[in-house]
Amino acid sequence: MKILVTGGAGFIGSHVVDGYLGEGHEVVVVDNLYTGKLENLNPKAKFYLMDVRSRELDRVFEIEKPDIVNHHAAQMSVPVSVERPAFDAEVNILGLINLLECAVRHGTKKVIFISTGGAVYGETENIPTPETEPPKPLSPYAITKYSSEHYLRFYNHQHGLDYTVLRYANIYGPRQIPHGEAGVVAIFIHKLAKGQLPVIYHYPEEPDGMTRDYCFVGDIVKANILALEKGSEETINIGTSKETTTGQLYRLVLGLMREKGYARDALFENPDKGPARPGDLRRSALAIDKAASILGWRPEKSLEEGLKETVNWELSGRQRKE
Ligand SMILES: NC(=O)c1ccc[n+]([C@@H]2O[C@H](COP(=O)([O-])OP(=O)(O)OC[C@H]3O[C@@H](n4cnc5c(N)ncnc54)[C@H](O)[C@@H]3O)[C@@H](O)[C@H]2O)c1
Repeated sequence: MKILVTGGAGFIGSHVVDGYLGEGHEVVVVDNLYTGKLENLNPKAKFYLMDVRSRELDRVFEIEKPDIVNHHAAQMSVPVSVERPAFDAEVNILGLINLLECAVRHGTKKVIFISTGGAVYGETENIPTPETEPPKPLSPYAITKYSSEHYLRFYNHQHGLDYTVLRYANIYGPRQIPHGEAGVVAIFIHKLAKGQLPVIYHYPEEPDGMTRDYCFVGDIVKANILALEKGSEETINIGTSKETTTGQLYRLVLGLMREKGYARDALFENPDKGPARPGDLRRSALAIDKAASILGWRPEKSLEEGLKETVNWELSGRQRKE
């Protein structure tokens, strides 16, 4: 199959590109390197340095005629979306519409769209949260991701373009940039490696921090491979369904860093505390029964194993293995 991966020079997209190439597919990447990096990019993929909002995208589709589009490119920072909601909508909504128009014009069969289970559901007590929970997005980023899901259903209804929506939990692993909420693993490792104390943001009644569902990027790749053939017209959570507080996560990372000789001083056992930031959800974890029944997907890597692999990669100089 020929697969066009947008955002294929980014953290998750670049792993998905590696996974597709490993399965013998032909891969074309479109990325404007807004946050992506050339060093993430698999040299076996054909690369177009391009914005998904560009008119030139039509030419890429005309030349490449992809069977499948996997859309990872996005403005993915919640704080940026709060500060610049119009920019967020331009990239996430207008970029998607441009892509869908090209897909329809050039005979693409299916779009795999990456949404966010960590944000679209908003604040809920129904945890782990199933896909049937009515989304209550609380940030412009969550709003544009949820709106995108509606556009996919419209293009499916109107033009017969197939889709699968994958709503990711909080993804971590090698190549993550230490920014954004989900970047907390990378932030902790970077800070501890530099001998700095990280901050744990929390609500007053939850001193050990908010809970999140942390899923390893290698497991995410498998979900994207399965979605090539399965999950037609479905919206599917991808996570572990386990809640971990920021404090628990920190202690796991600290333990691993200490094994490597970092952060041995007792002061690292008491990280700085800060108030939850605007828009920080108190709890988040995704139910994954649908992923198991429809895609045949389950996460395989435990948090301990995934963190170990991430720490090893970060401390080995952040290099591609290939
Ligand atoms: N990291 C997470 O925990 C998480 C959770 C839920 C959903 N997601 C989604 O997964 C996707 C990938 O996220 P990531 O964590 O790898 O972030 P990332 O910032 O590493 O990747 C985004 C990629 O998109 C590219 N990009 C941004 N704007 C673009 C534009 N206008 N045109 C072309 N390329 C553009 C960037 O250069 C980058 O390579 C995003 O859609 C994000 O919303 C991520």
